[in-house]
Amino acid sequence: MQDNSRWHNLKTADEVAMAAYQQILKAADQAIAEHGNFKIVLAGGGTPEKVYRLLAQADADWSKWFIYYGDERCLPVDHADRNSLMATRVFLEKVAIPEAQIFTIPAELGPEQAAKKYQHIVASALPFDMVLLGMGEDGHTASLFPGHQHQIDELAHAVYNSPKPPPERVSISAKALSNTQQLIFLITGANKQEAVNDWRSGKDLPVATINPTNPIDVYIDKDAYNP
Ligand code: 6PG
Repeated sequence: MQDNSRWHNLKTADEVAMAAYQQILKAADQAIAEHGNFKIVLAGGGTPEKVYRLLAQADADWSKWFIYYGDERCLPVDHADRNSLMATRVFLEKVAIPEAQIFTIPAELGPEQAAKKYQHIVASALPFDMVLLGMGEDGHTASLFPGHQHQIDELAHAVYNSPKPPPERVSISAKALSNTQQLIFLITGANKQEAVNDWRSGKDLPVATINPTNPIDVYIDKDAYNP
């Protein structure tokens, strides 16, 4: 477990979402005041949906927000399982972030081509201001899975044989995800307990490879971790 992680142990998934939402808005104000924009990487999976729904109601300076994705599944753009489809439906199409500032991973092109294209987008974006990540039951994060080997200097990886369907994906690398001012893990649900305990006991998991300079914030409910 990262030595400098701050664990926010909350009761419910709703409390996790509210607390993370508040930190995100504060981070946006800080970043916009400091350098005129806010570059945030969205997490995939289901857990962040509550946060995205809260953001959709927020009063923020959307013209200064720049959106990236931590990973994407290699599926057609309108496929129900695309991370970008959920974020668009519940959040991005409800706020006035300029289309040109939303950088969807072109995962429909397949892992290799999409990773090559996204590598350049990530290179131009770094450093991020905020990275949101989830965690899978096996300790994966984004589409960085246990046992998978990647070129550590890449900014975006082509992913094959993902244990979580679909098998082909694109992921921002641990190196690039760690190049951020702030980073939040959103973890809820009893099915994450084992991976949380493994992470906290020092097991070498993908979640443990994310090491920004500043402390990471873990927002977690009591079903996932009950100290
Ligand atoms: C994905 C996600 C993945 C996700 C975790 C947790 O594309 O599947 O990026 O890393 O964050 O698997 O998923 P849940 O939030 O649905 O539990």
